[in-house]
Amino acid sequence: MHILSYKVTYKEVDDIITNLQINDIFNVFYENPLEITTDEFGYGYIEKEDEEIILKVAYDEDINNFKSFKEKVSNIIGKKEDSIEEINYEYEDFSIPAIHINDEWVLASPDEEIEGKKKINFISQGAFGTGLHETTQDLLSVILSKDFTGKRVLDIGTGSGILSLATAIKDASEVVALDIRDVKDEVLLNASLNGIENIKVLVGDAISGEITVDGLFDWIYINIGGAETEMFMPLIENNLKKNGYLLVSGLVEWSFDSVKTMIESYGFKMVEKYQSNEWCTAIFN
Ligand SMILES: C[S@@+](CC[C@H](N)C(=O)[O-])C[C@H]1O[C@@H](n2cnc3c(N)ncnc32)[C@H](O)[C@@H]1O
Repeated sequence: MHILSYKVTYKEVDDIITNLQINDIFNVFYENPLEITTDEFGYGYIEKEDEEIILKVAYDEDINNFKSFKEKVSNIIGKKEDSIEEINYEYEDFSIPAIHINDEWVLASPDEEIEGKKKINFISQGAFGTGLHETTQDLLSVILSKDFTGKRVLDIGTGSGILSLATAIKDASEVVALDIRDVKDEVLLNASLNGIENIKVLVGDAISGEITVDGLFDWIYINIGGAETEMFMPLIENNLKKNGYLLVSGLVEWSFDSVKTMIESYGFKMVEKYQSNEWCTAIFN
């Protein structure tokens, strides 16, 4: 396998990846320039927009076509590569590993064959929600154990859209996937890999009113953090059906009780709780 590296700024990376995808180039990855912060609610992060990052494009096909592939990528990005590495990775080691959510379900790349399990096809394009984090895994396990037939679901902070995808696969009638970052291409790519067409992506700041979330939902999910959950509570209260369910994660154990008390002050009762390492997930009704 050959890896082409390009130095670009973080703020131009989304446009570059979109252009590469339009040209059928999907094996692209980079590390988010995040500064991890801690607060009373756990961990947070600040994205450093002006930071230079290394965008890597992998090529694993016929070596005779490598030169033309390299020229094509350089033309799309608008500059020559900064370096080329040859790596003898197995493809499986290079992509995100298959994630066995439970005895029935696995999350894996479309080209991986997994015997005896139902597979969700998934390709990561950089947004949070690869299934590697404890919060995502616990949420997927909860969602895939339920039947959402006929239910309308709002997924706040959808990231890669992985929770929306699992919910649509479990027969929800409509899923609205909301994020403040433009994750639309990634969510819709993964939906299409699974033949799913009823996920609607909303991008923008729903708290400031920049965008509006219409209608009532049977379930609302939020996996961002305690402070954000509190900020979203008025919207949740307005948009959740009477007797609807709120699925919350991204809460660290040392702040869980105060977030639970805050949610209960809106008239909810906790009905289920899960924990993996310090990360807590709960369902309220
Ligand atoms: C921890 S990730 C969760 C991703 C995915 N739902 C999962 O469970 O794996 C949090 C997501 O929330 C988004 N986010 C942060 N603040 C937000 C806000 N005010 N409104 C909407 N999305 C927000 C981030 O961009 C990120 O994609």
